[in-house]
Amino acid sequence: MQEGYLAKFFSERDYLLEPAAAKRLCELPDGEAMQAAEASVQFLSQRGGFVLTRPLLEAILEDLASARKAAQPALVQKTGFDAAAKRMPSNLSFKEDRDVTLKSTCTGSLEDFVSYFNDRLTQERGFLRNRQTQLTYATIQKLKSSDDRKTVRVIGMVSDKRHTKNGHVLVEFEDESGSMPCLFSKNDKGALELANQLLLDEVIALDGFKSGELFIVKDASWPELPIRERRLADSDACIAFISDLHVGSKFFMGENFENFLKFLNGDGPEEELAGRIKYLLIAGDITDGIGVYPRQEAQLVTKDIFEQYEVFAKLMEAVPDWVEVVISPGNHDAVRIAEPQPRLPKEFTKSLENKKNFHFVGNPAYVEVEGLSVLMYHGTSLDALVAALPSLRSGYQSPEKVGEEMLRRRHLCPIYGEKPIVPEKKDYMVIDFVPDLFHFGHVHKNGYSNYRGTTIINSGTWQSTTDYQLRQGHVPTPCQLPVYEVRTGALRVLDFK
Ligand SMILES: [Fe+2]
Ligand SMILES: [Fe+2]
Repeated sequence: MQEGYLAKFFSERDYLLEPAAAKRLCELPDGEAMQAAEASVQFLSQRGGFVLTRPLLEAILEDLASARKAAQPALVQKTGFDAAAKRMPSNLSFKEDRDVTLKSTCTGSLEDFVSYFNDRLTQERGFLRNRQTQLTYATIQKLKSSDDRKTVRVIGMVSDKRHTKNGHVLVEFEDESGSMPCLFSKNDKGALELANQLLLDEVIALDGFKSGELFIVKDASWPELPIRERRLADSDACIAFISDLHVGSKFFMGENFENFLKFLNGDGPEEELAGRIKYLLIAGDITDGIGVYPRQEAQLVTKDIFEQYEVFAKLMEAVPDWVEVVISPGNHDAVRIAEPQPRLPKEFTKSLENKKNFHFVGNPAYVEVEGLSVLMYHGTSLDALVAALPSLRSGYQSPEKVGEEMLRRRHLCPIYGEKPIVPEKKDYMVIDFVPDLFHFGHVHKNGYSNYRGTTIINSGTWQSTTDYQLRQGHVPTPCQLPVYEVRTGALRVLDFK
């Protein structure tokens, strides 16, 4: 490339090119020189600089080289690794009726919204009806037409919530029969505390009595999971959980991910444990996508969406064929952003379609692994829950707490409209099955807990921290791999950083 051309390229953009930097650029192949020139202009415009100096250019070239390396994974050579999982029969099935793939019927009509909310109310009411109470149940219509002040239980949906100027909380509560204002009095500390936990659009049971036009709330209950012993399985198999790879991003930690792939092949730490990994579950944000957030392009090393999935497929070729891989999408992936999301379209996964050990599911999805039910959900609603619930202020640091709130509500995305939801005839976001394991991601922070017998796992990320995440208050924990032993329930976390 000629120096004159480069000098013009920079001057047209109001930047200066130092002669030493120009000389260095001219030594590069044309494609690389242009890429470096564009990256330099981007860097200068973001940092408010005017001159591309030789040292600055060297730093940019280094950055580009490591990003290029991350985008071109070296294939891991399989060894003669004698993994116990090779001899383990696969015990994996999918609850397809709970996966929206190929079942989306929504046209956005009013009827769609009505049947979506009716289904949510009906399903959640079923869980609430299982809660013990001495009280009689009343519909809102019945309550409105009665003069009785006796305490009753009403099940409905929170359609509005506001603080009155006197310090009370007023909630509009509705069921199929009607709607009624419910008062959480400022003089009742317990009731006010409950009001703080209420989310818009969620279905709960309220205990209280009628006073004039109001229902005075004394207590509230959520659908909840039953308390039970954690279920284990009669197998030596292990499940590895990952999410949020963000392949295509220049922050994807390709080398660390390759070390994880080597580990799966018996080349790394904990060889015995690696050999028992029979299942690998991936909960979305496989790639970084294109145009997901403003000025994302500057942070991509692979700017073509098909290529991003090809790089991912190439990485996956190194997963041993005795490992069953289940992949569901996230908000960065090439599928509709509104939940529930169907599986990744085959045009993006064609290199993996013929592999018998690769399975693509929607988001959310229920997977049966060794007889244990695993709920996989990307976790996109987590942002809205953290913003809405004062008790979840530290939700980005402790995502497992957010997972507990979802399980308690038996719903993956209680607030309608904060994150896009497609009003399908059935509400796929209702947790209508008690999961043994709940796997999610999205916040790039590992987190674990046991909630009423359900093991919650947030599998973190394989992307380093971006400026955007820092601004959002995220505290990523990249390259930490949770591995679950189904026989003992022990959770091991391996660090590949
Ligand atoms: Fe992510
Ligand atoms: Fe995400």
